[in-house]
Amino acid sequence: MRQLPHILGSMNATQTYAPVNSSAQPRVQAVLQGINLVMDYNATSASQQTSRNTSANSPMPPMPMMQPLALNHVNFQIGEGERVAIMGPSGSGKSTLLHVLAGITKPTAGQVLFRGTDVDHISDAERTKLRRQAFGFVFQSGQLLPELPAIENVALPLMLGGMPYAQATDQAAVWLERMGLRNLLRNRPGQMSGGQMQRVAIARALCVNPAIIFADEPTGALDQNTGHEVMNLLMQAANANHSAVVLVTHDPNITQYCDRVVNMRDGMILDAANRPANYPQAVQQPPMQPQPVMQQPQYPQTQQYSQYPTQQGAAR
Ligand SMILES: Nc1ncnc2c1ncn2[C@@H]1O[C@H](COP(=O)(O)OP(=O)(O)O)[C@@H](O)[C@H]1O
Ligand SMILES: [Mg+2]
Repeated sequence: MRQLPHILGSMNATQTYAPVNSSAQPRVQAVLQGINLVMDYNATSASQQTSRNTSANSPMPPMPMMQPLALNHVNFQIGEGERVAIMGPSGSGKSTLLHVLAGITKPTAGQVLFRGTDVDHISDAERTKLRRQAFGFVFQSGQLLPELPAIENVALPLMLGGMPYAQATDQAAVWLERMGLRNLLRNRPGQMSGGQMQRVAIARALCVNPAIIFADEPTGALDQNTGHEVMNLLMQAANANHSAVVLVTHDPNITQYCDRVVNMRDGMILDAANRPANYPQAVQQPPMQPQPVMQQPQYPQTQQYSQYPTQQGAAR
C-alpha cells in the first residue's frame, strides 16, 4: 500500500499549467485539478431504484427521473495558496463540484488530481486520511457536533489523525483564540451565535494546516456584517497558512476576498479560459492585503489549554 507522504509530499508529480496568454510567464503549480468531470445523478438514482425494485420483487420497471447533468464536463484547477470563488444560481452545480473536488462524492466520470495524484487511484483509507490531513471544510451551518464543546469540535480532526487529547486541545485553543473565541472554549454550539459557530468551524478547518479549504456558502446563514467578519478571518488565516481556498457563494460581495471567480450555469463553467489572463500576478498580489495571522505576535501569549486550571474548564 502506498504511504500518504508519497501522496502529499512529492513535488515531482505536481502538475503545472501555463497562463492563458503567454508561455513566457511563470507556470503556476496546481494543488488540485478536476479534469472533464461529469456528475449524473440519474445514474446514481437509477441504480439505487433498480436495486430497490429488484429486492422488493416489484413488477414495475423503475420510473425514469431525468435531470440534467449536475456537472457537464467541467475542468477546474486551483494553484497552491490561491483563492477561487465559484459563483452561480441555485442548482447550477456549485456544491456538487466542491464535493467532487474534495473527494466526498465520486463523479460519474472524470479525474481529480491532488498534487498530481489521481485521488480515485488511492485506497479508501488513504483518501480519508487525505481529506483529514490536507483538506479543511467550512459549510453553511450544522457542521459542528452539538454535544461537544468548541475546543473538542476543533480538536476532533487532529485526534482522528492520531494526536493525543492534550496536544490536540492545546492546538485547538490557539486557533480558537485567533478567531477571538478565547472565552467560549467550553461552550457547545447551541450556546453560540451563528457567527461564533462559523468561527469555530474555521478554526477546525485551519487547525490541520490544510493545503486546501473547501467552503460552501460559509456566510449564507449570517447577516452581512458578520459575514464579512467571518470572511476576513477565514481569508487571513488561509493566507497566513498558504492554504488554497475553494469558496462556493452566490453573493457577489464575497468574491472580493478571492483571487478569481469562476461562474457556473447548468453544470458548466462559463468562463472559457477558467482563469484570468494575468493569473500569476493575481496569485502573487491578491486584491485583499490582510494582516498575517500566524506570523505576527498580535495575539496574547497563549496559555496551553492543558495547563488551564480545572475551574476554567480543562477538565481532564
Ligand atoms: N444528492 C443528489 N441527488 C440527486 N440530485 C442532486 C443531488 N444533489 C444535487 N442534485 C441536483 O444537482 C443539481 C446541482 O445541485 P447543486 O450542486 O446542489 O447546486 P448548487 O450548489 O449550485 O445549488 C441540481 O439540479 C440538484 O437538484
Ligand atoms: Mg449548493
